Amino acid sequence: MSRFVGVEQAGSVGDGDVDGGASAGPVVTGPGGCFISIEGIDGAGKTSHVDALAERWRSRGLEVVRTREPGGTPLAEVLREQLLTREMDALSEALIVFAARRDHLVQVIEPALARGAVVLCDRFTDATFAYQGAGRGFDLNVLAQLETWVQAGRQPDLTFWFDLPPELAAQRRAAARDPDRFEQQAVDFFARVREGYRLRAQAEPQRFVCIDAALSRDDVAAQLAAALQVRGW
Ligand code: TYD
Repeated sequence: MSRFVGVEQAGSVGDGDVDGGASAGPVVTGPGGCFISIEGIDGAGKTSHVDALAERWRSRGLEVVRTREPGGTPLAEVLREQLLTREMDALSEALIVFAARRDHLVQVIEPALARGAVVLCDRFTDATFAYQGAGRGFDLNVLAQLETWVQAGRQPDLTFWFDLPPELAAQRRAAARDPDRFEQQAVDFFARVREGYRLRAQAEPQRFVCIDAALSRDDVAAQLAAALQVRGW
């Protein structure tokens, strides 16, 4: 089972007994009942920063659900494996990621938000518009229709878009891991995916925070911290 599946819990908001807190209870500050997604082309370096974000709120007594797409439930993880390993056309890719997303929303994301948890999701629907839409050239209107059916209005409250040039991302990937079906794509595919993210960010500037992921790890962390500070998180 993936390390991303399930709940990493340090106590729920308002349960009054987090970290063994007795009379005074824990000081809980942060975005309770909040849905945050993290996006970017492969090689943008999201993962370690998602871990740090999770720790930031767990240490304050908030329940954090750290999850990913495609994935996050047993069914969705099976679909992820198929998506990453089998050749298929763009419509099949889109249907698989939205089927996985539906299960993830119903089983994990919506219940967690209802409990007041912080949901940290490594990729969500912006990835579908970027990869299947901009990357593969699949019809954006069909994706928008699927988004409406599957999500019933649910969108992340905040999206960190880790942006960097595709050439730099390719160098980082080459140094880090064996490529999956998407990571084997050429640089021009990732240039289109990047443009897909840019269009989504442009359409919803209040939801997106663009992170310059070409900078050092510490500088990226500082950008994240600054964006959270502005929100009082
Ligand atoms: P990711 O979890 O970032 O890969 P890794 O485990 O290597 O860090 O993402 C898995 C891949 O799935 C990634 O290449 C993008 C792709 N993907 C889509 O094509 N469409 C989608 O809707 C989603 C969520 C991911």
